[in-house]
Amino acid sequence: MTTPIEGPSTPDIRSSADAASQTIDCRLKEERRFTPPSAFAERARVGLREEYEKLYRESLDDPEAFWRRETADLVFRKPWKTTLEWKLPHAAWFVGAELNITESCLDRHLAGPRKNKAAIIWEAETGEVVTLTYAQLHREVCALARGLRWLGVGAGDRVAIYMGMHPFAAVAMLACARVGAIHTVVFGGFAPEALRDRIADCRAKVVITQDAAWRRGKLIPLKRMVDDALASPAAASVDAVVVLRRLDATASLPQDFEPVTMMPERDHDWSDLCTKAKGETDEAAIVPSEHPLFILYTSGSTGQPKGVLHSSAGYLAGVHVTSKYVFDLREEDIYWCTADVGWVTGHSYIVYGPLSCGATCLMYEGAPNHPDWGRFWSIVERHGVTILYTAPTAIRAFMRAGREWPDRHDLSTLRLLGSVGEPINPEAWMWYRDAVGGNRCPVVDTWWQTETGSIMLVTLPGAVDAKPGSTGLPFFGVEPAIVDSNGMPVADNAGGLLVIKRPWPSMIRTVWGDDTRFHKQYFLEVGGVYVTGDGARRDSDGYYWVVGRVDDVLNVAGHRIGTAEIESALVSHPSVVEAAAVGRPDELKGQALVVFVTLRHGIETGPALASELAEHVGHCLGKFARPDTVRFADALPKTRSGKIMRRLLKDIAAGRASTGDLSTLEDLTVLSQLRDLQEGEG
Ligand code: WT7
Repeated sequence: MTTPIEGPSTPDIRSSADAASQTIDCRLKEERRFTPPSAFAERARVGLREEYEKLYRESLDDPEAFWRRETADLVFRKPWKTTLEWKLPHAAWFVGAELNITESCLDRHLAGPRKNKAAIIWEAETGEVVTLTYAQLHREVCALARGLRWLGVGAGDRVAIYMGMHPFAAVAMLACARVGAIHTVVFGGFAPEALRDRIADCRAKVVITQDAAWRRGKLIPLKRMVDDALASPAAASVDAVVVLRRLDATASLPQDFEPVTMMPERDHDWSDLCTKAKGETDEAAIVPSEHPLFILYTSGSTGQPKGVLHSSAGYLAGVHVTSKYVFDLREEDIYWCTADVGWVTGHSYIVYGPLSCGATCLMYEGAPNHPDWGRFWSIVERHGVTILYTAPTAIRAFMRAGREWPDRHDLSTLRLLGSVGEPINPEAWMWYRDAVGGNRCPVVDTWWQTETGSIMLVTLPGAVDAKPGSTGLPFFGVEPAIVDSNGMPVADNAGGLLVIKRPWPSMIRTVWGDDTRFHKQYFLEVGGVYVTGDGARRDSDGYYWVVGRVDDVLNVAGHRIGTAEIESALVSHPSVVEAAAVGRPDELKGQALVVFVTLRHGIETGPALASELAEHVGHCLGKFARPDTVRFADALPKTRSGKIMRRLLKDIAAGRASTGDLSTLEDLTVLSQLRDLQEGEG
């Protein structure tokens, strides 16, 4: 029915002659290069490759000069004496400095013209729009800071935030920071058990939540879920709950929505609390540079989530400087990062980074396809969004829905497109550039992690050519390397482990409550350098190509194969929308390659297509990479942040029951469907 497409975007992997190292030469033949559009480059902060090189060299050779200059517009109540103290695995940056991050994000803007500029424009799923200026945001943050003080929250106390995409989630984070408390935002899509575990791990004193949030036309009863979490003795550390009334009492609510019940003594209505607390001070607590700012839980290779701890000054420096250069933020931008505040992208690039730059940020409450697949594009058009930062998984979903959706809207205000979260396959990259960016906007892929705090690898939009599928070059101050498992550098184009050789300001400081795990997990594997857990290669132009987690790198008959490469090959087939590749134990080959695919609407599944897809991969990547089994699925199991849960697929592929933690799975029905699904041998 369909024949594999041959085109410039089809990756071509040649197997290496170097059988001894058991690595394959994963040289994707992706040779397209896109120079920064000249209209963009002319106005960009860094508009030339040479300027990037110069700043990069300076950031490594003279970090003191670089960071002093680049943080000059931020507010430090006391300047730092020492740029970095490094005692493996502990970094202390900007030692001697004293600050409160909210003064850089809010107070500093109030003196000038930004005072009445929109800081956050919020669109609810129901269509209502609320704008908070910098002055209003500051007022709300101060009011809640007083409320937190009234509840007895002070420096170093932990506060859990369990909210939807509402501007007051940002207010809650900033209010914690203002009093020196450590916030831990728990994504509103997590189940009560997951919330309880996180509260228990950091012994949070207060939970900040909201009555409910809209998602795809349904109400998520967040307050009720908090009640469930707190019913457990494991969450006994919590003595107060603050509840934002997000629902409009006059609006018609679904019949089955139970009104919120408040527990006297424990539960406080947000606005009542602020009224009660009028007598407290809202002054920013001035803290030392290394004072913890937040804990964010993230999944590791084990089932137990890790509490990644970030500090104040270093984190601020990292997110400020990356926001400024990567998004090339200017005063008039309407910047939209579509992540949820529950993830690190939301922390760094909805809240702290852009606000520290005085930007206008758009926040959207609901689902990208509600009421239809035109929602994002209608938001871009109606609000005049200039910068869009989203994830490949979203881009692929939009591709599947069809380009008639973006085509129906005027997207001409867009000037920069960012991507984050997973490798972006060249097809999605090209579609993003064309269907969304009108071939006019630079597409900027950004590689980083919860642990890195801010963007690490990127093609700076005005200065560096982009290659579809590559995450580009190191950001300022970042010294990456590709090494083998003994820590020895590997040759260009040979795959290996991506490590970071020197500390950077916004790096993880420890794993909350488990410094040994922190040391072991990140610094012991490869002799004292930070191990990212990702496999990557660097090409002969110095560009990094992130393959995926090393735990997702397969070894099939002695060939090392990146699951991302298999997936990229599969989605380059016209019938395929999304794909996930996993290994299955195999007596002969060590591992056999199993792929799960979702198809475009109306495509018939069956053994013929299965073998066609296997052929296609073999054709794109080499025969060794031909999947052993192709399985068709309606959907792939994903975490709520959109990552495909390969661990589950591995279990399914191997025919065993899933054991680990399922709390991050977005839709449990996907699992049972996958177990029953039709199977075709490739
Ligand atoms: C992992 C980190 C970064 C914020 C959101 C995710 C993968 C992230 C890219 C990219 C290829 C990427 C890596 C990384 N990843 N961005 N641009 N290209 N892979 O944060 O949940 O901590 O996940 O996401 O595998 O290690 P996170």
